[in-house]
Amino acid sequence: MIYTLTISPAIDYVMHLDQLLAGGISRSSREECYFGGKGINVSVVLTNMGIPNRALGFVAGFTGKALEEGLRRQGVETDFITIEEGMTRINVKIKADQESEINGQGAVPEERHLKQMEEKLSLLGKGDTLILSGSIPRRLPEDTYDRFLEICSRNQVSAVVDTSGPILLSTLKYRPFLVKPNHKELTEILGEKISPEQGARNLQKLGARNVIVSLGQDGAMLLSEDGNVYTCGVPAGDAVNTVGSGDSMVAGFVAGYAGTRDWQHALDLGSAAGAATAFSPGLATAEAIRSCLKQIEG
Ligand SMILES: Nc1ncnc2c1ncn2[C@@H]1O[C@H](COP(=O)(O)OP(=O)(O)OP(=O)(O)O)[C@@H](O)[C@H]1O
Ligand SMILES: [Mg+2]
Repeated sequence: MIYTLTISPAIDYVMHLDQLLAGGISRSSREECYFGGKGINVSVVLTNMGIPNRALGFVAGFTGKALEEGLRRQGVETDFITIEEGMTRINVKIKADQESEINGQGAVPEERHLKQMEEKLSLLGKGDTLILSGSIPRRLPEDTYDRFLEICSRNQVSAVVDTSGPILLSTLKYRPFLVKPNHKELTEILGEKISPEQGARNLQKLGARNVIVSLGQDGAMLLSEDGNVYTCGVPAGDAVNTVGSGDSMVAGFVAGYAGTRDWQHALDLGSAAGAATAFSPGLATAEAIRSCLKQIEG
């Protein structure tokens, strides 16, 4: 089974208006709600592709209930731990003449909740995959992912890590199956001048088994565990929203690799899923991914 883990899920409340009046009242012409957080994005795209998976994470309050219920309606299986105090955050995205965002803080898990998560993760075993996506909220210990990965490594669970900075570096000692920095995240860790391939080789030396460096509209490269490099481009299309492209790529790659064990196909499917999200207002649908894959694989 594939599991995703989102420490701080969110309800994204998107408001469309002509102009935002700071210090006054503005009215929106239309609103949308998306259920988000990076791991949840991965779960939604996997579900859209028909791949069974379970979203793990922490929720709280009425917004947490709404998130769980909304995901269930989309067919996403969840197994969240409830934090008794506070509420799951709402991120307000204002789309006016300019785009503005206000992201909530949300409920933060305490030590006992982290322990509950560790107990859940210790039931996973060989053949399972755990996808850890996103940063660790400031109020949590920096070694939170390390604790989860330690359990994975003990039980031979394949781990996928999509995060950045020192936290990404510190996860490498657990030999994750895959890490997927974008090029900016790679240069932040390894210096401005590093090329995607050299950066990927450095991360592999530090412990990562497979490394994808995603390059936005320039596609992506994969350094596989046998030392081979694969590249792929993106189909033609107009990007309307690239938020979640990286998460979609992780979903596509994991689905593609699980189905075929073929590195090039997995990378192509990852890129197709990333592009399909970039070309749609929300996350990639199966239909959009199929059409992008057809263009990439020719
Ligand atoms: N503008 C675009 N046009 C076509 N495809 C895109 C575009 N942006 C991203 N993609 C596809 O999605 C993949 C992942 O995108 P990107 O490198 O932007 O990830 P990211 O920065 O991690 O995104 P996220 O915001 O989800 O963290 C790319 O490798 C590419 O295949
Ligand atoms: Mg990313």
